[in-house]
Amino acid sequence: MALEITNILSFGCAVLKTALLALPAIAAELPEHRITNIFEPLATPAESEKNIALLVIAITGTVFVGVAGLIAYTIWRFRQPSHEPHSEEPPQVYGSNQIEVAWTVVPILIAFVLIGVSARVIAAVENASPPQAALKVTVIGHQWWWEVLYPDYGIVTANEIHMPATADHKNATYLQLQSADVIHSFWLPQLSGKTDLIPNRTNYMWIDPHSPGIYLGNCAEYCGTQHANMLLTVVGEDPKDFKQWTIEQQKRAVDDPQGSEGKAVFESLACVNCHNISGSGQASAGAKFGPDLTHLMSRKTLGTGVIKNTPDNLRAWVNDPQIAKPGCLMPSMRLTPGELTKVVNYLETLR
Ligand code: CUA
Repeated sequence: MALEITNILSFGCAVLKTALLALPAIAAELPEHRITNIFEPLATPAESEKNIALLVIAITGTVFVGVAGLIAYTIWRFRQPSHEPHSEEPPQVYGSNQIEVAWTVVPILIAFVLIGVSARVIAAVENASPPQAALKVTVIGHQWWWEVLYPDYGIVTANEIHMPATADHKNATYLQLQSADVIHSFWLPQLSGKTDLIPNRTNYMWIDPHSPGIYLGNCAEYCGTQHANMLLTVVGEDPKDFKQWTIEQQKRAVDDPQGSEGKAVFESLACVNCHNISGSGQASAGAKFGPDLTHLMSRKTLGTGVIKNTPDNLRAWVNDPQIAKPGCLMPSMRLTPGELTKVVNYLETLR
């Protein structure tokens, strides 16, 4: 028995050591620091949520300091004197109506104040209408990536949501949130609170980033093995840059001779059952099980934010996605080195 425990312990230590050794390597691969701060809001909904968070922290902090202070004072004030080690119990107080009423009514009042102010802010954020010219974007959660549609532009993309960002509050993005499988949650701490994506239901939210930049977030509802690697990237852009991006995204995939051999390999494999590349022939038309690859190289990351989109990473990812994202639904196609080179060359033409 003791031997078993020792074995388990040493196995645990070995696993921990491997994990710790692997950590710096993984962290170096991550594109940016992913944990963003709800106390640095950069959009209207996030600002109201920060204010309410501060108020709630102030109220609950005061309660904590009051209660903990009283307990500490009581422990100190009524400690057993050292010169009188076996003193009697102090008088016990029962049935004091004043004390009972005070410690029942005061917490109830505090709870109602907290419920009231929170409900008011939630209602204000949910009921606020976005500006007239809001951009419409549909986000569909999948295990473990985000499908992103721009219905007014006919754009289909994945994992990276581009939207205009201006300080004048005139540009907002109205999001329709859906799910293709299980419940996910859309969370960009600097832009807004969390909203669930639920199968057979559409939820809505709107955000208006106040300055161009990259906003990071992640899925905030456990949705399976790779939930932690279901990362979100919002690229807030100057309206002119956003317009340019939409023009590029509306184009069909380029027909670059560099990729023709790889394209033939790609189309001969099961890749086309999951990934659409517009203009790559009938086989992949409408395939939605995996991200649309028409403009793959315009995106900053692979595997939904797990690794940077570099040529080496792309090759490693196509060779075996299970290394960077174990459990993800894309299998290794077990390509020969020659086929792999051709397919990667083709994918690199998809700008
Ligand atoms: Cu999707 Cu967690």
